[in-house]
Formats: sequence, structure tokens, C-alpha cells
Amino acid sequence: MIYLDNAATTYPKPKAVYQNVMRAMTEYGANPGRGSHAMAIEGARVIYETRELLAELFNLDDPMKVIFTFNATDGLNQAIKGVLNPGDHVITTTMEHNSVLRPIKELEKYGVENTIVQCASDGRVSVEDIEAAVRNNTKLVVTTHVSNLTGTIMPIEKIGQMCKRRNVLYLVDGSQSAGVLEIDMKKQNIDLLAVPGHKGLLGPQGTGALMINCDTEIKQLREGGTGSESSSVIQPDFYPDKLESGTHNLPGIAGLNAGIKYILNKGTKSIYSHEKKLLEIFIDEIEKNAKIKIYGPEDIDDRCGVVPLNVEGIDSSEVAFMLDTQYGIAVRPGLHCAPLAHKTIGTEKIGAVRFGIGPFNKKSDIMAAIKALNEISGIK
Ligand SMILES: Cc1ncc(COP(=O)(O)O)c(C=O)c1O
Repeated sequence: MIYLDNAATTYPKPKAVYQNVMRAMTEYGANPGRGSHAMAIEGARVIYETRELLAELFNLDDPMKVIFTFNATDGLNQAIKGVLNPGDHVITTTMEHNSVLRPIKELEKYGVENTIVQCASDGRVSVEDIEAAVRNNTKLVVTTHVSNLTGTIMPIEKIGQMCKRRNVLYLVDGSQSAGVLEIDMKKQNIDLLAVPGHKGLLGPQGTGALMINCDTEIKQLREGGTGSESSSVIQPDFYPDKLESGTHNLPGIAGLNAGIKYILNKGTKSIYSHEKKLLEIFIDEIEKNAKIKIYGPEDIDDRCGVVPLNVEGIDSSEVAFMLDTQYGIAVRPGLHCAPLAHKTIGTEKIGAVRFGIGPFNKKSDIMAAIKALNEISGIK
């Protein structure tokens, strides 16, 4: 199988990820932070080390402000619902995933106002448009770093600067960029960063993190056992325990630990440059085919390794089915949990076939995809 669905979740993972998951389960599979024996201590050590790795990767001072989550959706919900109160206003964009839009729409029921800034048809957003939406009661701006539909890279540093100047919190959805593009929470003025562990960070599914780089109070969304202050029936008010109730996903976090080490060792610059080279070959070749329409920014510098396209006269699900069954190529068709983004690029009715390039794809994978698409479109 040629796997080109890395925007959904990366596959394969570095070998050390699988080994770490196995070791966590077979060698020290106790409950971390819930006992003082050697196995529990080893589990807690791995978890703390993974907080440190995430803090290092995203330039966050305090590893205790790294909160483990189940995925990016979980972290985004925690940040959005933990920060906003009735009467507050939040700004986001039309290119967001439903894991941003749905929590914001849910909060509307409780008196949290929102503005959804319209992006251009290639997915780009204007910082001026976001700033124009700021009101007296605006508390939070939420944007993705990279669109999961078009691969458009958003100007997060400029948005961060504007938020700082206007005294508004900035939450970045790093789902498509963490592990691929540089994210520096201090330099880019990011107050809150939600990431999945299972995409660019190369960890297992069921992992994610929320990084907190501000002093604003973040309400917990659930209470429970934390292994700390066990004599009290009140939730601890310190991080990470305040936001991390219940047993951790130790095998997942141990796997994520190895994924982040792989990235720190390789460097995001080299990972992005590899993906960009493949992206360039793919787009250059596909653009020669008049029967295929590619969406997203024209300039390769404005995009990551996510390419949505449609083949004239053939439904996106059918194209993906043919790629899967006739060519052994895995992609994702249809709508990509981002209804307003599809509307923005004009594919809300037809959807699109999304190719997601990952760090382990080779030039031969891209050449096979180009050949398959040319054949499917009728151009041999
Ligand atoms: C931009 C974006 N945000 C959020 C998510 C949700 O991520 P998860 O499935 O880890 O919750 C995704 C997943 O595809 C995404 O691409």
C-alpha cells in the first residue's frame, strides 16, 4: 500500500515508537503517579520526560504546563471551553476544522459570542480582517496553523503579534503543522497550542497535548483522581493535575516520546523540506493535466504537504476507491470535517480527494500517484 493519508494520521511511525509502546506495556505497565514502586516511578518518569520533550519542541518554559490529551480535539475543547465565559467573544476563521467550530458553536448556547472571519478561496486569511473583528469583549482568537483541507499555512506569528497588541489570547490548532513546521510559542506569541500526538509528532493514536503559555485561568472540564492531594474532595488547582484527571495513556505517551525524539533529532526544517520537495513534484506534474483541478495557494511556499483535488466528471469517493482498489494508494475523499473550509474553496457539494504527504513518503510514491491520477482521468 502507498500511504498518502498522512493528514488524517501518520503511517508508518519510527520503529522506536512501536518499541516504546511495547516496552511500556510489557516492562513497566503500572499506573504512573499512583504508586511508589519502581514500575510506577518508571511510568511517571517517562511521562515527565515527554512533557519536557514537548516543551522543548514548542519552546515553552514550564513542562508542568504541558497537558496530555486524547487527541487534538480534546485539547481544543479544553482550551476553548476552559477560557471562554458567557459574555465573552471569540474570533476564528472559515478554514477551521470542526474540532474548533463545533465547540465555539456549542458555546453560543451559553452566551459566548463569535465571529468567523471569511478566508480567501485559496484558504489564506488576512490578519487585518481578524483584527477588524476584535471587540471590547474579545477574549480569544483561534486559528489553525495549516489547513487540513488546502494545506494553506496561516501567518500565525503576525496573528500572535496582533493578539498581543490587542491583549487577546491566541490559541493555535497545530494539528497539521506540529512536527513539520517550526512552532515557537514564545517567538510567535502563542498563548495556547493544541496538537495531536498521532499526526506529525509520529506518536500513537489516542495521544495529544495542550501547551499553556499564559496565566489566564483555564477551567477544568472534568474532575477526578490525579494521584495528588488525595485527602481532598476538591480538584487540585495546579498544572498539570488540574486538567489531567484519570489514568494516563502510558503506552501512547511512551510511543509519543519516541516520536518527538525522532523529530528533535531530524529537525522540522529537514522534515518540511523533504515533504515540500515531494509536494512540488506532485503539484507540477498534476497541473499539466487539464482534467484535474487542484485547490489551495498557487505559491508552494504558502502550503504544506496536503493537496486536495478533483478529477473532472468523477466523484471524489470514486476516485479514492479506484486509487485504493486498482493502485493500492490510500487517500481521503469527501468532506474533511471542515464544512466552512469546503464552502470557502467551493467544494461544499462535491468534496475533494485529499493527498497527505508524510515524512516517510518517497519520490516513487508520488510518481505512482501521478500515474494513477492521469490514468483515472483518461490521460495515459
Ligand atoms: C486542522 C485539524 N484540527 C483538528 C483536528 C482533529 O484532530 P484529532 O483527530 O487528533 O482530534 C484535525 C484532524 O484531522 C485537523 O486536521
